[in-house]
Amino acid sequence: MTEPLALAYEERGSGPVLVFIHGFPLDRRMWIGQLAALPKLRRCVAVDLRGHGLSVLDNPKPTFSMDLFADDVAATLDELGADQADICGLSMGGYVALAFWRRHRDRVRSLILCDTKSEADGEEAKAGREKTAQLVREQGMEALFDQLGPKLLGSDPTEETRLLLRDMFLAQPPAVIAADALAMRDRPDSTPDLPGIDVPVLWLHGEEDQLMPIDGARATAEKIPGAVFVPIPGGGHMAPMENPKVANDALGEFLKKK
Ligand code: MLT
Repeated sequence: MTEPLALAYEERGSGPVLVFIHGFPLDRRMWIGQLAALPKLRRCVAVDLRGHGLSVLDNPKPTFSMDLFADDVAATLDELGADQADICGLSMGGYVALAFWRRHRDRVRSLILCDTKSEADGEEAKAGREKTAQLVREQGMEALFDQLGPKLLGSDPTEETRLLLRDMFLAQPPAVIAADALAMRDRPDSTPDLPGIDVPVLWLHGEEDQLMPIDGARATAEKIPGAVFVPIPGGGHMAPMENPKVANDALGEFLKKK
């Protein structure tokens, strides 16, 4: 059995911990706009999931699961000396946040879900994950960026956002990204958990998200009692990166109330 691992992270600010969990196939740097704006309210901690960014990879042929990633976040909270945290995840990071809720709910002060979904993969999506794993193993991260990168952004991204996105893709080891794809293929359906979530929830979603269209996300958020849903104008799948001003205002308002 793979043991949980404390993760590499970047932090700003002090006070109650707010953990940011990145999406696929990225690292902590996607939260740069949030780390710049929110440290007055929280000790903001953006983690690199196992094998991504600066986090170590203890196995050259890794296998992952959303549960393992969630347990790594819990081990990181232990290292930070934090009993509880606000847990914020984007897309795959949202799958991890929902796994964290299932496995460590007493440690969750609030959940912030961004451009994510609760359902498991269907058969077609599962086959797609296998193709993604094969693509990165055989052709590397540039090939994945060419295929997926443009679909992650809204219609008018800044050059800075596009370049940072590309940098993050190219920085990840293909074996790690292949393992992410297979872990997402095997993730469970989190939909049955939604009505039982009894901490405050904020859901941020790009109005132009091509991968996870906003109407479906709004309907999912409605299954969580009291969840606040905020559409992000000009945002694609990377909404907090693409429109940090609106995302940070919504985060600030949500965090101040608690
Ligand atoms: C992500 O951004 O993390 C991915 O789009 C998630 C997924 O492919 O399901």
